[in-house]
Amino acid sequence: MKELTKEISKYEKKFNLVRNLELKKLVNYSNYKNLPFQNWCNYQEGFSTQILDWFIKYLKIDIKDSVFLDPFCGSGSSLVTGKSYGLKSIGIDINPFSCLLSETKVNSYSVKDLDIIRNFSLPKYKDEKDFYKKYEFSMIKKLFSKENFNKIELLKLAINNIENTKSKNFLHTTLVCCLELCSNYKKAGNGLKKRKKINELDIFNEFNKKKLQMLSDIGLLKEKASIRVYNKNINSFNKIIEDDTIDLSFFSPPYPNCFDYFEVYKIELWLGGFIESYDELKKYRKSAITSNLNANLNQEIDIKELKELSNLLSLTLSILQKQELWNKNIPKMLSLYFYEMNYFLKSLFKKIKKNGHVGIVIGNSSYGGVPILSDLILTDLAKKSGFNVKEIIVTRNNETSSQQYDKISNLVSYIRESVIVLNK
Ligand SMILES: C[S@@+](CC[C@H](N)C(=O)[O-])C[C@H]1O[C@@H](n2cnc3c(N)ncnc32)[C@H](O)[C@@H]1O
Repeated sequence: MKELTKEISKYEKKFNLVRNLELKKLVNYSNYKNLPFQNWCNYQEGFSTQILDWFIKYLKIDIKDSVFLDPFCGSGSSLVTGKSYGLKSIGIDINPFSCLLSETKVNSYSVKDLDIIRNFSLPKYKDEKDFYKKYEFSMIKKLFSKENFNKIELLKLAINNIENTKSKNFLHTTLVCCLELCSNYKKAGNGLKKRKKINELDIFNEFNKKKLQMLSDIGLLKEKASIRVYNKNINSFNKIIEDDTIDLSFFSPPYPNCFDYFEVYKIELWLGGFIESYDELKKYRKSAITSNLNANLNQEIDIKELKELSNLLSLTLSILQKQELWNKNIPKMLSLYFYEMNYFLKSLFKKIKKNGHVGIVIGNSSYGGVPILSDLILTDLAKKSGFNVKEIIVTRNNETSSQQYDKISNLVSYIRESVIVLNK
């Protein structure tokens, strides 16, 4: 481990590691969950809409006529800020629920679109159909009261009948954003947890409240901007964006911390009609960036190429392989993660214009007492892809699980969340 800490110090010096703990709140969504747009739904692992604003001001970027890219746009936090600046923007995410949410936040709505949304009336409640039958989802009967579940299905049918796409998508988003709120389950850790008490919130009431809140928020974003959101895998990047076209990119990729987005958003994905079978769910899981153990761990890696990616990565993996880990696939998961991120950073470099700016929010983790310095390793990969490294700003020290804490106690300061600042 001494060898590893020595190597880490070398990298920290080389990449100009600085601290700005005032940014702590901006890298974490939960601190801002009551703000407009961020209060639409409980999006895990998102950052604040204000962090892109900070980045633009911090680097004094002249954003006039700039094109902005968030290749992992999630709930659309950065796209909202992009729109407030009137930036032409592109968002990409593999999760169809995230893309609908992002698009709904940044769409421009005509008076007619808004009228349809405002005048949408709730369907009449009737308890006659067995809506459960069409679901393959094993948890379906446990998630809601029978009444709420019927109401959800009736709302879905009524929304589906709307012809105007923007209004339909807005109301669909409204419904999906109310699901967890009215469910007997809630997001917790890396999945869903049963609430202590049966949830008595009525989905019709919550839907109406949410609709008004969302209408008020989109009224705040009056700037005109062309924004496209692509529900695509980042590995098809080259087909979406031409080389040398992006002035500014700010994003947070999945962290290699075993968090599975497709597990946590199960309610939204199934009930929102984004997936209809376990096969589909599996396909999504297997095509997302390999940041958790449900991803496709059977992919082959060129070991020689992996070893040459980064000394720090190689050293970390060789130490990790000697530890007792709670899952034997962790080294493979990490190898694939950095392998894929390396490929992505190389493609990103081609898309960024000369003098363009990139900010990457990333969190470190630890397995078997070994710290995984994702901030340093990704910076190393970015530098080798051609980027200039301005600095790495440490924004906060993360909480690690108590079990991991015991193992890592003297190395705990490595478990942090940072912003990597690059330019071309
Ligand atoms: C840390 S989150 C981004 C959160 C976002 N910054 C926000 O504030 O909501 C990472 C995102 O990467 C997406 N993702 C994972 N694998 C992907 C892939 N292969 N292609 C595109 N997006 C992917 C996930 O669906 C997730 O929304």
